[in-house]
This record gives sequence, structure tokens and C-alpha cells, in this order.
Amino acid sequence: IETGCLSIIVLGASGDLAKKKTFPALFNLYRQGFLQSNEVHIFGYARTNISDEELRDRIRGYLPGGKERTEDVSNFLQLIKYVSGSYDAPEGFQALDKAISGHELSKNSMDGTSRRLFYLALPPSVYPPVCKMIKNYAMNKYDLGGWTRIVVEKPFGKDLASAEQLSSQIGELFEEPQIYRIDHYLGKELVQNLLVLRFANRFFLPLWNRDNIANVQIVFREDFGTEGRGGYFDQYGIIRDIIQNHLLQVLCLVAMEKPVSMKPEHIRDEKVKVLQSVVPIKDDEVVLGQYEGYKDDPTVPDNSNTPTFASVILHIHNERWEGVPFILKAGKALISRKAEIRVQFKDVPGDIFKCQKQGRNEFVIRLQPSEAIYMKLTSELDLSYNQRYQGVVIPEAYERLILDTIKGDQQHFVRRDELKAAWEIFTPLLHRIDDGEIKSLPYKPRSRGPAEADVLLEKAGYVQTHGY
Ligand code: BG6
Repeated sequence: IETGCLSIIVLGASGDLAKKKTFPALFNLYRQGFLQSNEVHIFGYARTNISDEELRDRIRGYLPGGKERTEDVSNFLQLIKYVSGSYDAPEGFQALDKAISGHELSKNSMDGTSRRLFYLALPPSVYPPVCKMIKNYAMNKYDLGGWTRIVVEKPFGKDLASAEQLSSQIGELFEEPQIYRIDHYLGKELVQNLLVLRFANRFFLPLWNRDNIANVQIVFREDFGTEGRGGYFDQYGIIRDIIQNHLLQVLCLVAMEKPVSMKPEHIRDEKVKVLQSVVPIKDDEVVLGQYEGYKDDPTVPDNSNTPTFASVILHIHNERWEGVPFILKAGKALISRKAEIRVQFKDVPGDIFKCQKQGRNEFVIRLQPSEAIYMKLTSELDLSYNQRYQGVVIPEAYERLILDTIKGDQQHFVRRDELKAAWEIFTPLLHRIDDGEIKSLPYKPRSRGPAEADVLLEKAGYVQTHGY
């Protein structure tokens, strides 16, 4: 990390995202020594009128070990100052700027090394006014160097048109290299390892194509429902919440061609090509579900058709993947919590063992829980991270991504054209769902989802294998 004054400004500091994700991630970075220089300062900003101490008290309980009030916790909390103000009026941002400049001046860093990272832990509806306020009143003004970076998180709009509108509103204020769109799945350990796995291993290079691979599944399951956030979720549904972003990003890494280099722009160029090669989704390759009891939430309308489960088959029209279905499946209130990539290989030609009875070769990357990579041959090869790398702490996705932002590495962030291409894939389908043209089928909580999804999977050529 460069030296010089660094100010991390968390906007929406008293909200849920900040308390549960942003501050704990900052604390972990601090504990690992990344934020310990006396030139680092953290500012919380929100509308509530509270003191520094009150904000610290609100955060404390969410930090690992925070309740024990360890020295680490107190030292970290001392780095945090609070400024209150509205999200669309100059006064608050002028006060924020004054506080940040005060910190920069006290560290004698008027040599131009002012670095300001604005983390918008806020609903996207306020991104445009907040970005405008930052640009006008609170960004790094010194011409001598340093930077201003903005971190934002989904939902980036509800469809292609609204996402593009949001992108251009922010794009008028900040350059693309200043905008860090978080998709926290890109910060997960095994997602980060995918390119190395694919492109640095001779095993996979010749096999990773339509000649050998029968189908790919990218699956996300949660064993809890939308508890407490039904009202929010109902406006989005599982496709916008999980599939259009997290699973599609994983698909890109599984399917993309080898980039020219590991430079962020080269990687993102290849991801965009995959997205642009996805053919329009057909209604008979979609199964939607809604778990029974979802509508008991008083904030969910009684006639809601919002899917809490979806299985969607995508086809990539290019030389490598023509004819290989990619099944993206996500659901809430299912039997277990799991996220994994399953690459199923074709049957062995001229099989003399009738292997099909034993199941096909399958290569599985389990993103969570208990990260693992395993191969189902006619027996199993298993690399479970917690056995192989005992005692090694795998950093949280948010920690990695915040550190990348400080370093200015955009590899694991979503570029504007990627976002656009992702919305292009799903928008027609989402509009048909919003118009009630495709119905969500009921399923029992803690089940595998609607049985129709298994039929779809079979139709895509997936052959059930044994074990695991
Ligand atoms: C979020 C979704 O992006 O990801 C949530 O909005 C979901 O609905 C969460 O629960 C899952 O993240 P993880 O890291 O627990 O798999």
C-alpha cells in the first residue's frame, strides 16, 4: 500500500451494511496491520445526530471480539470519527471535508498525498446525490497526487434501463477508474482462485471445452428465508439478488478465455465477451419457485409472484461452449447452505465398464461453507481447505475488496460494460416475470425447491452422480 494520508469514509455509518460488513472488514484489515499507520483515519457519516462515542458503541458489538473490549478493538474504534449530515445538502459534506482536511493537515500531508475512499453503505437511490456532494464538496482537491475512490454495491438498478441511468449519473461525476462496484462473490477465496486453477494447470487446459464438458452448474442455496428483509427482497427477487450478479460473475470466470495478462482491464475484457455471447433465455428453460410462508411477512404483498428460487439455463454462443448448458440455480429457505460450481464431464466413449452406472466425472469447487475442490473420478480426489490448510485464516470477501480499493486494483470489481451486459441478459426475462407471465411455483421450506427444477436439470443433460 502507498504511504501518505488515507481517509476511509463510510457513508451510512449507522446502517446495517456498515455495521455488519464494512466496519468488521475494516477492523480485520486493521488487525492484520494494513490500517495501522498513524496516517489512516476512518470517518462515519450518516443523518443521525450522534457523537463519535455513540457511533463507536453502536459498532463495537459487531466487531469480532468487540464485546470483550480488547485493546485492538479500542485502538481501532479510536480511529473512527463521526460527522452527521444529510445526503443531499452541502453543509454536511462541507463539515465532512473540513474533518478530513483537518486530519490531513495534522499529518502534514498537504504534499498532495490525500487519499479519500468513500464507501457508500447506502441504498442506490441516494448514490447520485451523494456522489454529487462528494464531487462538489468532499473529494480530494489537491492536484499534486492522491486520489478519490467511490465504492458502491448492488442493487445497481432493477433492469437495464434503470442500471444504465444510474451508471450515467455516477459516470458524469467520476471516471470509471474511480468507481469500485462491489460484487462480494468476487472477493471469495475460491472465486479468486478460479483463474489460476484454470489457466495455470495443465490438467484443465485441454479439457475445458465443449468436447469434454457436458454441463456446468453454479448453485447457491441458503437454508433461511428472507427474514426481516421481505419488503426489500420482494421488489427484487432471487434473480436480481443472486443470479444476475453473484452467479453470473462466477460463470464469467468459469467460461472466459485466457486474458492477455492478469491486468484488471484484460480480465474484465474477457468477462464482457462471455456475457455478450450469452443467448436470450427461453421461458421453458426457467423454473421459478416461492417458498411457502414467504408471504406471511407483513411487508410482502399477498399476491406476490416474486421468486425466492430460480433455476435458469444459459447458453454461451461461442467456439468453446456451444451446446454446453450452464445451469444457474439459487434459492432461499432450502435444505442446506451451500454455494458450488459443478462441472460435469461427458461420458467416456466406448466405455467397457458401464461407468455411467457409477456416475460421470465431475469437478466440484465448493465456495462455501468449508471451501473445497474435489474431483469425482470413479473414486474421489478431495482438497478440503480446512484439512489441507489447517489454521490458515481465509479472509472475508469484504476485507479483500476494501484492500483492493485502497491499492487501486479493479480486477475484482464490476466494470460498467460488464454490468450493462449482465442486465442485458436478464432484463427481458425479469420483465416477463414482473408482468406475471412466468409463475413462481410453491415449494416447502427446507426442501430442494420445486421438483420441476430437477426435471429442468435432467433436460439439460445433468446425470445424477453418487456420493457427496
Ligand atoms: C447478498 C444477498 O448479496 O448475498 C443476500 O443480497 C444473500 O440475499 C447474500 O444472503 C449471500 O452472501 P454469502 O456471502 O453469505 O453467500
